[in-house]
Amino acid sequence: MSQDTTKQTQNHKIAIITGTTSNLGTNIAYRLLHEIPSDYRLTLIVTSRTLARANECIHDIKKYNEQTTKRKGILDFDYLLIEMTDMVSILNAAYELKQNYNKIDYLYINAAQGVYAGLDWIQATKECLMNPVKASTYPTYKLQKVGVKSRDGLGLVFQANVFGPYYLIELLKELLSKSEDPRVIWISSLMSKPSYLSFDDLQLLKSDVSYEGSKRLVDLLHLAKYKQLYDQYGIKQYVTQPGIFTSFSFFKFLNPFTFYGMLFLFYVARLMGSPWHNISGWKAANAPVFVLTADIKHDKQDVKYGSACTLTGKEYLKNLEIDPTGKDDVLNYFQTLKLEWDEKLKNQITNTRKPYGY
Ligand SMILES: NC(=O)c1ccc[n+]([C@@H]2O[C@H](COP(=O)([O-])OP(=O)(O)OC[C@H]3O[C@@H](n4cnc5c(N)ncnc54)[C@H](OP(=O)(O)O)[C@@H]3O)[C@@H](O)[C@H]2O)c1
Repeated sequence: MSQDTTKQTQNHKIAIITGTTSNLGTNIAYRLLHEIPSDYRLTLIVTSRTLARANECIHDIKKYNEQTTKRKGILDFDYLLIEMTDMVSILNAAYELKQNYNKIDYLYINAAQGVYAGLDWIQATKECLMNPVKASTYPTYKLQKVGVKSRDGLGLVFQANVFGPYYLIELLKELLSKSEDPRVIWISSLMSKPSYLSFDDLQLLKSDVSYEGSKRLVDLLHLAKYKQLYDQYGIKQYVTQPGIFTSFSFFKFLNPFTFYGMLFLFYVARLMGSPWHNISGWKAANAPVFVLTADIKHDKQDVKYGSACTLTGKEYLKNLEIDPTGKDDVLNYFQTLKLEWDEKLKNQITNTRKPYGY
């Protein structure tokens, strides 16, 4: 490669944010516009399950750039329609990326879902009155369905939040290794206590806290993999958690009254000293964006980087230790399951045609 071409690729960053359409995903994108030197070319690959939402999101990010960052370099967009609960969709997405790009610099694993059935309003009221900070940090009144499987026959939350993204990373390792400073950033949660995961139910099919269990799996998988990813591929992987912020996903269970009630509770919790009530997606994106420039010599990879804020809402970073118990068992399980899926998908014909391009 000539010096000019090397410089050209170094000055061109390509980032994928899974679930870009979420409040956090869009704010990570906004912050990348500030973070990556303005004269660099930046390609943002927006992902969603639907084209309409991907388009809407691209429109919002473009508008943000026109009104705020006004980047000097080229800002271009692409989209990927990925359904994390469908292994063929993941395979297609990776295939399409390999066809269209010769490197990927940053991969954010942000998309996630739970299988919620609603709220236990009596329990919610009790918890909020007794301890508003705990009620809005570790709520136990969100009702989750038990035993939901994907069409692939896997635990749905397990596949959407951990196994699907893990498989995507595995498929993209080579492409990431072509970047001079590749990064993979997982979005975990505060809600990932060891007690949420049972080792005889790693697909979370018997669990009524499958969302929380999936985040515990994210933490363990990260601990078990980050060294290998760096040693073999030069990929720097970090795990982060965004604190607590307003999410679009729970809106369907709220009316204007309960929505503002929830916001009020968040502010009360912050005033009572909670460092985690960021409330805004922008502040929640602080840790995920910080680790993009973290230096692995000084910024440890075996901790969880957290977005926190002061009483007055000033953002800062607060890291959490991760209990590593069981990380090797988790990695073994994922490696074995990956081999099974490699075998199942080996004759899959990928369909990479897009409805229309950018
Ligand atoms: N909200 C909080 O307080 C909080 C706290 C801790 C951690 N987090 C984490 O922060 C991240 C973002 O949260 P959020 O509340 O902003 O998200 P959200 O509003 O729930 O949105 C979820 C995002 O994930 C995508 N998604 C969901 N299921 C998917 C699937 N099966 N396949 C592919 N994409 C899927 C959605 O994309 P489309 O709908 O466009 O397809 C959407 O962009 C998540 O990892 C969440 O666990 C949030």
